[in-house]
Amino acid sequence: MTKGNVAVLLSGRGSNFAAIVRDSRKADANYGIRLVISDQENALGLRKAHVFDIPAYCLPRERFKDRAAHEHEIAAILEKNGIELVCLAGYMRLIGPELLEKFPGRIMNIHPSLLPACPGLHAQRQALRQGLKISGCTVHFVDSGLDSGPIIAQQPVRIRDDDDEDSLSSRILLHEHRLYPRVIRHYFSNHLQIRGRRVIIAGR
Ligand code: GRF
Repeated sequence: MTKGNVAVLLSGRGSNFAAIVRDSRKADANYGIRLVISDQENALGLRKAHVFDIPAYCLPRERFKDRAAHEHEIAAILEKNGIELVCLAGYMRLIGPELLEKFPGRIMNIHPSLLPACPGLHAQRQALRQGLKISGCTVHFVDSGLDSGPIIAQQPVRIRDDDDEDSLSSRILLHEHRLYPRVIRHYFSNHLQIRGRRVIIAGR
């Protein structure tokens, strides 16, 4: 089986990255993680890449004159390595035209809420402050907005009366680690059809 070439972009801990790598190394996986790029030098995800023996690139934004120059370098690495799908996993930057135009419909993100509820930072805190009873996680295609691209898949998670930000985040994270690899497998099985704002998952 030829396997899809995936790159992960991250800024921090990299637990989703690790979950995706573990899935990609199962015998029936239809994709592989070829490289990881971090915009933060001290991201734990970079150390995880080393443990997994996956090529890692550190490209702090401050080293570039503007966002376009930063993304130009990222795109050059992705293209040189034949990357087909870019997975943002805790990458704390909006994506600009430089990357979006080079990878149209080929950049995904995971977010710890049921979008469009609670976009942006501290999604779990937002959910608790708004008194929601259900939150969850969302995998979506990336556009130029904040967590605003077409939704591919969502997993609801019940909010308990005694939840705080940590307990809710941990429970959602467990589901993130399952949902993201599933979506990537669908992508490389050609199951995802984009119809305007709607993404249909065929073959389920
Ligand atoms: C996750 O909750 C993800 O949904 C959000 O940022 C967090 C990253 O966590 N976008 P990790 O770095 O994958 O552990």
